[in-house]
Order: sequence, then C-alpha cells, then structure tokens
Amino acid sequence: MAVLGSGTGSNFQALYEEFGAGIVLVISDRPGAGILEKAKRAGIPTIVEKGGPDLCARILGHLEGIDLVCLAGFMRLVKEPLLSAFPRRILNIHPSLLPKYPGLGAWVQAIEDGAGESGCTVHYVDAGMDTGELILQARVPVLRDDTPETLHARIQVEEHRIYPLAVKACLAAIKDGE
Ligand code: GRF
Repeated sequence: MAVLGSGTGSNFQALYEEFGAGIVLVISDRPGAGILEKAKRAGIPTIVEKGGPDLCARILGHLEGIDLVCLAGFMRLVKEPLLSAFPRRILNIHPSLLPKYPGLGAWVQAIEDGAGESGCTVHYVDAGMDTGELILQARVPVLRDDTPETLHARIQVEEHRIYPLAVKACLAAIKDGE
C-alpha cells in the first residue's frame, strides 16, 4: 500500500507498526512534513509532489502495483484521475464521527458545537470532502475543560487503533475479490 500525508505522520506510524513492509511508498505534498521523516526512518521510499492542478495525475504516476492508498492527514482533495484508478481503494481517517464535522479543524468544530462526544472515522474516499462510505468509527467523550489540543490527542489514540483495523478489513476484502 501507499500512504499519503501532509503532517506529522502519527497515523502513518500506526499503520507501519501493523503492516511493516506492506507499506512500500509514502507521498507528501509538503517537503518538511514529519511523515517523510518517519518514513525515511522506517526505510520506506518517499516522494514529494507539491500541489498544482495536475497533482493527482502526478501522484497516480507513482502508484503502479499499489493495491490500496491510505490518506493519513493528507490535506488535499483527491481528484481525477486518481479517484477512478482506485475505486474503493482509497481510505481516509477523519477526526470526527462523520457525517458530523467534516473538513478542517473537526475537533474545534466539536468543541464549539458543545458536543458531548466526538471521535474518528475511517471511510472510503470519493470526490467530496469527507463524504465517502463509512468503514469504521470510534467514539471519545468531549470533556468540559477540553481544549482543541486535548480533544485531538484523545481522538488520535483512537485513530491509531482503528485505522489499522479498517485497513486489515479492506485488504481482506480485496483478497476475497470484492
Ligand atoms: C489526523 O487527526 C487525521 O484524522 C486528520 O489529520 C490528522 C493527521 O495526523 N485527517 P497525523 O499526521 O497522522 O499525526
């Protein structure tokens, strides 16, 4: 599988701990992203593809032989021709109980909304923003004295637990010819 990310790469790390050499490529749109450092430390090839109108075509050009694409903090919308090349083969992890709080700063949205709970969701990626079919969710409480940082940290513990589980289920489905 290939992992795409723009940030610190803690979800990449969780996937790597589960799948090891099953991850053969990490692509980032941000040259300084922590995910690149983590991938290099793990001995996984990395590629930087900065944004631009043909970003998804350039990314697709690197994905020959890849079965599954995992977005892990990838801060861009996935577009054609990448979407059609990987039908039900692109997953994303989002820090809310979708369909609640899609888009940026989902944990801030939860706090501002006065939510009593939030969580995270692994879903298939479609052309929308965080709109694809849900695969797996986990819930966490929102505490009265939570800051965006404390809530995000609590959500991330669950992200690191469920993302590998969801990927395992998808790989099994691919193997079964689904
Ligand atoms: C995670 O909270 C994920 O849900 C969101 O972006 C964040 C990425 O974190 N899509 P990391 O780079 O995996 O630490």
